[in-house]
Amino acid sequence: MSDGPVRAGLSDTSSEDGIEQCMHLTPQDHLFVLTGAGISAESGLATFRGSGGLWNGHRVEQVATPEAWQADRELVWRFYSQRRRDASEAEPNAAHYALAKIELELGDRFYLCTQNVDDLHERAGSQRVHHMHGSLYESRCVRCDEPFADKALYETAMSLPVCEACRAAVRPHIVWFGETPLEMETIYRTLNRATVLLVVGTSGSVYPAAGLVHIANQQRTRTVYVGPEEPLNHEAFHEILLGTATEVLPSLFR
Ligand code: APR
Repeated sequence: MSDGPVRAGLSDTSSEDGIEQCMHLTPQDHLFVLTGAGISAESGLATFRGSGGLWNGHRVEQVATPEAWQADRELVWRFYSQRRRDASEAEPNAAHYALAKIELELGDRFYLCTQNVDDLHERAGSQRVHHMHGSLYESRCVRCDEPFADKALYETAMSLPVCEACRAAVRPHIVWFGETPLEMETIYRTLNRATVLLVVGTSGSVYPAAGLVHIANQQRTRTVYVGPEEPLNHEAFHEILLGTATEVLPSLFR
């Protein structure tokens, strides 16, 4: 886009450009929401890039890749056990609740796709959440490949889980770097129907999620980003609403 995005800060409730931190949707609108780690930041869960991409001194690539799993399963399970613990101690925030509320109003005209593996959207009341990068509270056998609910913590070599049916290793049901996100066809099909793409709290650095805004632009869907700083793919958005998720979302659909 040649002119670049229109930016509005929190003070711009009605700026000279006529931009409001308020989104008016018509009965014809279909809203596609993509969330990232930033929406859970105010619930106390660390973002990836915000913490320098490090966990206990390890780069994310050392704990969130198939190679990491091959090299050190215990390390990988310690990382995800810690994240299970952190997420279960966190509570949904006003931004999660705002999205659950708009889903109630829009019904089938609303679609929530998250890169987050926590369950804060569900705990805020969202009914249908597409976790494109998997779920923290599911695991799967590397051989049987069927995900199952699992909230257990595996923090020692002795406690690493194996499949009850075939004794193969059980891994987190998480999409690691280098793996394909879940049900991309559904995402593309739903985005195709959307008239508005709202992206919240993601750095725009991990594909294919970061590419959804480009697809939306090709089909002339309105694209809006919400976050305290511009994402890497900021040039692709029509509008950027600068502010945290809890500052912007609760009043966005008023
Ligand atoms: N409200 C909204 N956005 C926020 C807030 C907040 N309170 N605090 C931080 N942010 C923004 C940051 O400005 C940053 O752009 O959230 C974004 C977080 O970026 P990342 O840490 O890169 O997280 P995300 O984009 O979700 O990562 C994508 O990468 O590590 C993989 O698979 C993992 O799903 C993850 C993917």
